[in-house]
Amino acid sequence: MKKNNKVNDTAIKLEYVLEKFPVSMKLRDGTSATLRPLSRKDEKALHKFFLSVPEEERLFIKKSILDRAMFHEWLRHPDAEESLMLLMFHGRKIIGKATLRQRPGGWKRHVGSVTVLTHPEYRGRDVAKILVTEQIEIARALGLRKLEAELNGERKVAIRALQDIGFQQLMHQEDYVLDMKAVTHDYLLMGMDLKVDEEYAGVGE
Ligand SMILES: CC(C)(COP(=O)(O)OP(=O)(O)OC[C@H]1O[C@@H](n2cnc3c(N)ncnc32)[C@H](O)[C@@H]1OP(=O)(O)O)[C@@H](O)C(=O)NCCC(=O)NCCS
Repeated sequence: MKKNNKVNDTAIKLEYVLEKFPVSMKLRDGTSATLRPLSRKDEKALHKFFLSVPEEERLFIKKSILDRAMFHEWLRHPDAEESLMLLMFHGRKIIGKATLRQRPGGWKRHVGSVTVLTHPEYRGRDVAKILVTEQIEIARALGLRKLEAELNGERKVAIRALQDIGFQQLMHQEDYVLDMKAVTHDYLLMGMDLKVDEEYAGVGE
């Protein structure tokens, strides 16, 4: 029952929070960009975007993006309440994405997790910072109290970018995770506390 309450509550807050999209902006170098949540019609563009990412970065994406049927199935049922993907576009091309995940119940129902990926040709123009900052605002508005990000310890640019935004290192475990080729990498958990607007406090209580 509590779980359903949180799901309904999140759905209502999401509708309100997502009202402002699409949002247009200029990147650091003047590139025009638009930000909006994923929709079903983005399948082709999103697939193309994932394929543009170097393989060593793709190794950590949990879904098999090379399996087109699975990818199609995944996108047929986007569930923004559990996994909200924000996309940044330059024209019709996807140049970055950040996903905010949250749990419908349980002891980490107040903790969101965020992942971010930028198209290799658009790096260093603030795409990731804009996307993650936007997701922080959304997480706050949804009443989440903490945000975490799991990383491969080798992702130095990502680690620094997240630190700049306000994340701190919570855990560093050597040789803890395996990539798709069964090579081990350090595991890093970063996190930040969210100051929650009183109006939104009380996730699933
Ligand atoms: C990490 C990642 C998302 C950063 O994306 P981005 O859009 O280039 O980042 P931003 O432009 O918002 O800025 C991040 C900072 O890193 C810097 N940066 C970006 N690419 C860099 C590079 N190759 N070398 C050094 N610094 C770099 C930017 O200049 C910026 O720093 P600044 O504000 O002090 O100038 C991107 O490199 C990526 O997709 N990496 C692979 C996936 C990954 O590691 N994701 C994180 C897991 S959650």
